[in-house]
Amino acid sequence: MNRNMRRCVGIGLIAIALAMTACARKETLKVGIENNFRPFTYTENGENKGFEVELWDAVAKKAGIKYELVPMDQGELTKALKSGKVDLVVAGMTVNKARKDNLAFSDPYFQTGLVLLTKQDNTDIRGKEDLKGKTVATEIGSTAYTYVGGLGTPKEIKGYPNIDQAYEALAAGQVDCVIFDERNAQDYVQKRGKGKIKIVGETLNKESYAFAASKKSKHLGAINSAIEQVVKNGTYESLYAKWFGGKPQKLPGQ
Ligand code: ARG
Repeated sequence: MNRNMRRCVGIGLIAIALAMTACARKETLKVGIENNFRPFTYTENGENKGFEVELWDAVAKKAGIKYELVPMDQGELTKALKSGKVDLVVAGMTVNKARKDNLAFSDPYFQTGLVLLTKQDNTDIRGKEDLKGKTVATEIGSTAYTYVGGLGTPKEIKGYPNIDQAYEALAAGQVDCVIFDERNAQDYVQKRGKGKIKIVGETLNKESYAFAASKKSKHLGAINSAIEQVVKNGTYESLYAKWFGGKPQKLPGQ
């Protein structure tokens, strides 16, 4: 091989390497969202909406991540992450120790808790102390489901694949109460459950939401610094005001 040919081969190899890095950068992440976790992630008339859908979009843009949303039922999300069907889950996923054994999480971006709901005319359940002998409904596999299991006092726990089924069972008088994530419960009480269902007592378990990924994910570093940036530049607060009204008590990272 003469010098010119060697140079050509060299340039060719560099070009291939550059093209490969460009491809790697253009990788499109598959992001699982839940189709019915209002007002965080939900699908309405074929459109994916919610606070987290918009927050994730802002984070992804800052991190230079291209993505495609994959809406699914709550019960499929973790499985999809484990099987590699999706690379990330954005769905009000509470961070806890048990989940950290199997999954990796971003920095938390939303502080919340669980609440207790009863029928509007119920007078005997005012807090978690009043659940002895009662039937409690919630979503299977949720942190609320684990929480209710740990109470020990209720007569029965009814787990539904979709939280709306639990709310409907309560409205129909089939269960005594529901325990679930505060903001989702508030959304139900203010809209579809208005005048039928109320929230009682104090916030139960304190929880925070984060993006979940497989332990092998290489994106969490970029995602965390993008979360920090969208908090600093005011995007977080404006999305919060749009979806929840007012200001958060604490910004993420504070
Ligand atoms: N935050 C609770 C959990 O992590 C409930 C999540 C419900 N999310 C959902 N996409 N349905 O278990």
